[in-house]
Amino acid sequence: MIPKEVVDEIKSRADVLEVIGDYVNLKKNGSNFRGYSPFNNERTPSFYVVPSKGFFKDFSSGKAGDSITFLMEAEGMSYVESIKHLAKKYGIDIPEEEATDEELAARNERDSVFIVMKYAAEYYQNNLWKHEEGKSIGLTYLHERGFSDETIQAFSLGYSLDQWDGLMQAALKKGYQKEYLAKAGLIIQKEETNREYDRFRGRVMFPVHNISGRVLAFGARVLGKGEGQPKYINSPETLIYHKSDVLYGLYQAKQTIRQEDNCYLVEGYTDVISLYQAGVQNAVASSGTSLTQEQIRLIGRYTQNVTVLFDGDSAGLKASFRGIDMLLEGGLQVKAVTLPEGEDPDSLSRRLSTSELQAYLREHRTDFIGFKTQIYQKETENDPIRQAELIKEVVGSIAKVPDPIQRQVYIKTTSSQLEIDEQTLISEMNKIHLKERRSSQRREFLMEEEAQPTKPVSLPPEEEDITNVQPTIYVKEREVIRVLVLYGQHPIQVATETTEEGEATEEIKVYDYLYHELEDIAIQTPLYERIYQLYREQTLTGITVTEAWLAEHGSEEIKKEIIDLVVEHYVLSENWELLHQIYVTREHDILHQVIQRSILELKFAYLKQLMEEQRLKLKETTDEVDQFQILKDYQILKQSQQEIAKLLGIVVS
Ligand code: CTP
Ligand code: MN
Repeated sequence: MIPKEVVDEIKSRADVLEVIGDYVNLKKNGSNFRGYSPFNNERTPSFYVVPSKGFFKDFSSGKAGDSITFLMEAEGMSYVESIKHLAKKYGIDIPEEEATDEELAARNERDSVFIVMKYAAEYYQNNLWKHEEGKSIGLTYLHERGFSDETIQAFSLGYSLDQWDGLMQAALKKGYQKEYLAKAGLIIQKEETNREYDRFRGRVMFPVHNISGRVLAFGARVLGKGEGQPKYINSPETLIYHKSDVLYGLYQAKQTIRQEDNCYLVEGYTDVISLYQAGVQNAVASSGTSLTQEQIRLIGRYTQNVTVLFDGDSAGLKASFRGIDMLLEGGLQVKAVTLPEGEDPDSLSRRLSTSELQAYLREHRTDFIGFKTQIYQKETENDPIRQAELIKEVVGSIAKVPDPIQRQVYIKTTSSQLEIDEQTLISEMNKIHLKERRSSQRREFLMEEEAQPTKPVSLPPEEEDITNVQPTIYVKEREVIRVLVLYGQHPIQVATETTEEGEATEEIKVYDYLYHELEDIAIQTPLYERIYQLYREQTLTGITVTEAWLAEHGSEEIKKEIIDLVVEHYVLSENWELLHQIYVTREHDILHQVIQRSILELKFAYLKQLMEEQRLKLKETTDEVDQFQILKDYQILKQSQQEIAKLLGIVVS
């Protein structure tokens, strides 16, 4: 347990902009900040941060919360991990707990795996820099490869000694448990012989970091040619390492990717590191596998531009095109650079000076679609039968591009590049889109079916619209609760009595006014009823209820709704102004009207509902006395409704 005072201190120091800024490229948008969702691939940014409240909201995924929620969502951290992460970031000491055996055992397994990985990384580094074998073999090899001490340190490279269980023995001596060394994939347990030994032995170690710099896995390269041994051995999938969710080098590259607004995509460890040393510090590697959705999402947090470096030999080129289609589908702008025959990014970086390398990358950068077209064109030259394949391949990629205008441009350029008329390409594209739409419609249909039972609040069915107000109760209740949450503590003047000298007024709080108005009303949406009651109970105890207090003390569902209300208010109203270049009267300045209107509209909606009920009753009754009574009640309701309508300035039939 972390003491509560420490948690509070961490929470108050955590700056939501700084915390989220490590992950999302945020741009100022009025008094808020805006960026691309880290949870989705999106084309227009819909991720907002409201620094004054400490909240974020992602309109694409619906996720919302504070710094801690963000870390939990973005990094998959537990609550405690997030707190610790923030403590470290802000240099706040968490008092060392006296950990008992049970507590140690109960500690989150993931935490334990992270901890042994951290130890292993330090151990391997220590070998490289301090140990005789590490220095004479490991460090020498890396120097011979052309890596400087600075580069070696930037990537935390290390060395595993040529011993059966060097790491295991050292770790056990320090008190780390075998169980977690095994769960981290650092040692291998052979069942037949009942022996354990280190997975990595006599190799140069490349730690793989997540974006906050924690070690998730290792790649280990044999020294020199390493006859008869695999060149690279990698960590297996573990509790903390999912190969398909990670990009090698992103931790070191993320800052530069953001600055340059471009990310180079290469094949492996050595490419990333050599480029880095040569001054190209915005490269990442997908580590052999073809790109995944998750990796694309990761890149999308920092930039919308990806430049893929293709080796000079074209073997494997076409296989890598599949992953690139996914980049296009994610709405990213994709460029390609082909390296000279027989070179990879590693060798080229070492051969050229920084300025030569940068010039090469600049000058050989072409648009990916054009590049792909050219490759297929060369291949299918003089082979009319394969022309169809060529068109299908290229148009297939164009069809992935989400922006219709950009697709149109691609159709044009491809048409002139291939000397095939645009119409042929367009009809090919339409065929592809039609096919995709059919299958996605099926998918959506299936998903909707699944989603049905968990709908949080069911909207009442649309009734016949008799006024220009949309009197759905849910919407009106939400509005009243919104007023309560945002303005509950504001003072307003209300008239108490009218005397000859004029009107006597009294200052009360908005919540008091609302309590009074809602006295005889039962809020129907359960969520809003709960928020209302929570607010009410707290003000009765004398606490000043703020948005933050509600978010902190309510259920998860309440927290989310509060944040939604707050962020919508701060973000949407401001955007409306920016978008339409008009001055929207600050709600705050017309608070009186806003409150009154919200109450009246809610009452109007309730009355309409009651009238509807009377109408139904009337239909079902044959007793004339009952019918008469129902009609009388109906008239009273109708009268009230008309009074409210007058105040609202609407006409009811
Ligand atoms: N790679 C890998 N597994 C292999 C071979 C390669 O994961 N069996 C990845 C590594 O990330 C490596 C990259 O592909 O950095 C480039 O491969 P390669 O050039 O063969 O590796 P190098 O270590 O650069 O070897 P060499 O010195 O022979 O170029
Ligand atoms: Mn290489």
